Amino acid sequence: MITLEHICKIYKIGRERKVHALHDISETVHEGEFVAVVGPSGSGKSTFLAMAGLLERPTEGVVRFDGKDVTDLRDRERTRIRAERCGFIFQFPSLIPTLNALENVLLPKTVHRTYQNSDEKWGKEVLERVGLKDKLENLPYQLSGGEQRRVALARALINKPDVILADEPTGAVDAYNASVIISLFKEWNAQGKTVIMVTHDMKLADEAGRIIELADGRLKQDPE
Ligand SMILES: Nc1ncnc2c1ncn2[C@@H]1O[C@H](COP(=O)(O)OP(=O)(O)OP(=O)(O)O)[C@@H](O)[C@H]1O
Ligand SMILES: [Mg+2]
Repeated sequence: MITLEHICKIYKIGRERKVHALHDISETVHEGEFVAVVGPSGSGKSTFLAMAGLLERPTEGVVRFDGKDVTDLRDRERTRIRAERCGFIFQFPSLIPTLNALENVLLPKTVHRTYQNSDEKWGKEVLERVGLKDKLENLPYQLSGGEQRRVALARALINKPDVILADEPTGAVDAYNASVIISLFKEWNAQGKTVIMVTHDMKLADEAGRIIELADGRLKQDPE
């Protein structure tokens, strides 16, 4: 479903400094796979996700989505693919402080002007699934950190995405809520959807069907 071919990503900092975040990464995530991306801090996990989710363009290499080269598509086309096909959970919850939980969940729909009446029902259903049925109208400051993460999770599912890209979705979440999040991913995956999850937690990574390991921006070969 998503293929990275010889991807390099260099971030420029000011005029002089460069950070080589990814070196010659070639990897395919197939439709219906649940993969975990692991590796030390700074190894390129978030950058990998940004490439796979068309959030950023590689410095070198090709990104394919459903077999189609999307590397040089216009921003508007890339945004459309993200809006229709992808659900993002960022490393930090990034809720809008002036919108309540349900409004935050519906935000991608309103922003991309694809809102339909049925979306509210689905949004409420997902919030209920993550245990926030009674907090639909809470503003983010009225939610705990773990609750905010679960709102971000519900928001990622609002467009019924074909692929979930989750960056440390269980960071700062207790064991019970981490298991709620993982079981939602598994359920989504069981319906044939693709899940790419970055995690530090090897126990959670073992729940995925496959592990992609990064070190210093390179793929580590599976020892098995
Ligand atoms: N926008 C950016 N501008 C400059 N450098 C960046 C940018 N994003 C990431 N980097 C650098 O690229 C490297 C890889 O970063 P990345 O965020 O992908 O790591 P990570 O594996 O997600 O780390 P963590 O586990 O701490 O989240 C790091 O050296 C980081 O400092
Ligand atoms: Mg990261």
